[in-house]
Amino acid sequence: MMKAIVLSGGFATRLRPISYALPKLLFPVAGKPMIYWTLDLLQESGVDQVVLAVNYLADSLRAVVGQKYKGIRINYSLEDEPLGTGGPIKLAARMLKPKETFIAMNGDIITDIDLNKMIRNHKRSKAVVTDALHEVRDPSRFGVVKLDPAGRIQRFVEKPTLREAPSRLVNAGIYLIEPTMLNMIPSGRKVSLEREIFPILAKRGRLFGFPFKGQWFDIGNLADYRKANFALLRGHAPKRDLQRRGTRFKQPVFLGEQTKTETAATVGPNALVGRNCVIRRGAHVVDSILFDRVTIGERSIVSGAIIASSVLVGKNVRIEPGTIISPNVKISDGIRIGKDAIIHPYKEITANVRPRANVM
Ligand code: GTP
Repeated sequence: MMKAIVLSGGFATRLRPISYALPKLLFPVAGKPMIYWTLDLLQESGVDQVVLAVNYLADSLRAVVGQKYKGIRINYSLEDEPLGTGGPIKLAARMLKPKETFIAMNGDIITDIDLNKMIRNHKRSKAVVTDALHEVRDPSRFGVVKLDPAGRIQRFVEKPTLREAPSRLVNAGIYLIEPTMLNMIPSGRKVSLEREIFPILAKRGRLFGFPFKGQWFDIGNLADYRKANFALLRGHAPKRDLQRRGTRFKQPVFLGEQTKTETAATVGPNALVGRNCVIRRGAHVVDSILFDRVTIGERSIVSGAIIASSVLVGKNVRIEPGTIISPNVKISDGIRIGKDAIIHPYKEITANVRPRANVM
């Protein structure tokens, strides 16, 4: 059986303001919180012990995920302060005590990578670290690598311009690591694997790449978040529209458990609605992501929005595309929320909101 460390402690600044109140790994993606996409992949690949390297909002993550998931034992390694990508692995390894190759990965990626094939490659090449690589059209937001013909990574270029990029293969945030690598990470301070450790291994010829095709979503900002949700939704939803108790469902649609929809409501196309939500009579939800416990009042229209948990939208409200609503917001009847408006947690909205307004 394998062991894994999952980096789960970032501040998720690019997902603010929703991430002020909710850790990134608990954002729902196509029906389940992000962390379960990772745990499912690990479980299917034969992992039975996972340490979540946590920091920011650690308690909420622990309260939801707990100590056990589908036979995986889960422990939490808590940093007193953020330690980058290398520091948390060093700290979490004290708990994991790996004696052989282990997996380390970012918790905010959704992928169908074949980890067992990656492990076979890793052993064959006698690498100290193997880094999964994915080809992207625009590598300028990522760490880009240059490979030699044997699959060794020769160099890493962080966030290059298109012209500087040595390839379109980017660091996918999934690593196989030999325990000896841990000795290279200094304790007690912020350490970047990509900037400090990998260049040394590359020089020694012990850093290998594993290019893979298939699904890979890296969820950094709200545009990535939206894209991953709708792509996964299209992959899984039934093709045909349907009518259920007077509600019209235009596919693709996802509805969570215990969610109720009333007569003459329209849901979809492109609607992801979480658990315990209510879509009232005559309301319309399209191109939108609703987290759990969201109520949309009678005849309200929600188009192109992301609405986080425990949001109450009154009657005859109009929510325009690009709107982001954080957890625990209440919107009064008849309100209009203009395009690209952002609403912070715990707000009561009793007057119209202008386009692009930031309501704090
Ligand atoms: P931004 O602030 O928007 O860049 O997001 P982020 O904080 O999540 O950073 P990034 O997207 O680079 O993180 C990639 C993965 O590493 C995510 O799963 C994060 O939760 C995790 N991560 C980032 N920084 C730290 C850290 O200092 N400690 C731990 N334990 N995890 C981290």
